[in-house]
Amino acid sequence: MYTFEERKFNLGALEGISSKNIEEHLKLYAGYVKNANLITEKVSELMKNPDENAYVLGELSRRFSFEFNGMRNHEYYFSSLEGGHKNLGEGSKLKQKIEGQFGSFDAWLDGFKRLAMTRGVGWAMLYYDKHTDQLVHAWVDEQHLGQLNGCQVILALDMWEHAYVYDYPTSEKKKYIEAFFANLNWEVIEKNFLETTK
Ligand SMILES: [Fe+2]
Repeated sequence: MYTFEERKFNLGALEGISSKNIEEHLKLYAGYVKNANLITEKVSELMKNPDENAYVLGELSRRFSFEFNGMRNHEYYFSSLEGGHKNLGEGSKLKQKIEGQFGSFDAWLDGFKRLAMTRGVGWAMLYYDKHTDQLVHAWVDEQHLGQLNGCQVILALDMWEHAYVYDYPTSEKKKYIEAFFANLNWEVIEKNFLETTK
């Protein structure tokens, strides 16, 4: 058995993302934690009669990555908004890595923002691939479809409509992307990078 605990985030007032939206969003995050635990419990119960419950067990197991990644993605997201906006340090290892791979920080940022505009509900993710010592960014549908095997999440931008629905119409989601970066604490992202590369 395993269990997961709901994390608490110390989020002050954000620029361009209302406290109402954050409040509602945190409730959704809590739902993923609850349901990741619920699947775990149900599977354990149903395993008492695995043959009889084979179909339900299969479907619950299939759904686990949706709940688990829904939980974990949001933990990356909310923790990156803690502590207020901070820029990525000029000489920082992450900045050097980005510049080395993408030519400039702005070129990378432009590409990432375009990735975030992908149609549909999902996430724009920046990963570190230790197998090739490279940063890779990718779109993840829903919470889990398209997560990159063996890569470590460095930065996670929630592009589900629930992330901005109280603040922007769907046709203006670009403004939400700008608001996310206006609040992003790059020190957290740098720490994520250093932890996975040390
Ligand atoms: Fe979300």
